[in-house]
Amino acid sequence: MNFDVFVGTGMGNLPFMQTDFDGPCTGCHSKGQAGLWLAADPTLTFESMKKFPYIQKFVVGRVDGDGNFKDLVPAGRIVDKAGEACPPGADGCHPLFGVSDEMKASVEQFVSITLQNLAAHTCENGIVSSQDAGPLTGPDGGTP
Ligand code: HEC
Repeated sequence: MNFDVFVGTGMGNLPFMQTDFDGPCTGCHSKGQAGLWLAADPTLTFESMKKFPYIQKFVVGRVDGDGNFKDLVPAGRIVDKAGEACPPGADGCHPLFGVSDEMKASVEQFVSITLQNLAAHTCENGIVSSQDAGPLTGPDGGTP
């Protein structure tokens, strides 16, 4: 994982994403609560999210037919959490929130660039050398 990619894709904004009625994510996840570490300080967020178990909110391992580790795939937990229904009769559900297209793109780009860097062994310099990386564009078509 590369901090420049983290900042460059806009992931520094994630802790400040708002819930509908309960304030920003960092209000409840500033110290790794519930396996998600979203501190106001982007360096702390980055360094924490790099580690297990937090990293599972970004990627999960996929296994082959024999149950052996195959590769890492996007976990989608952060964006998917927004759409989770509260089971009827549940006692206390997660605060409601919507994810903007911009934030969705930030998470997707950060995870996909990181996986490409991992595959190409370019995590240190953050350069994506994969041929099928696709253009790095922001939601408005410009560079993010
Ligand atoms: C008012 C407190 C509060 C706020 C604000 C809050 N959360 Fe949570 N979050 C929780 C609690 C409590 C849990 C554990 C129970 C659960 O999963 O609902 C949790 C769990 C989670 C999980 C991990 C569990 C899983 O299903 O993978 C994710 C991801 C998550 N929150 C995302 C967010 C995001 C993104 C935001 C900001 C938009 C946010 N939360 C804001 C209280 C909060």
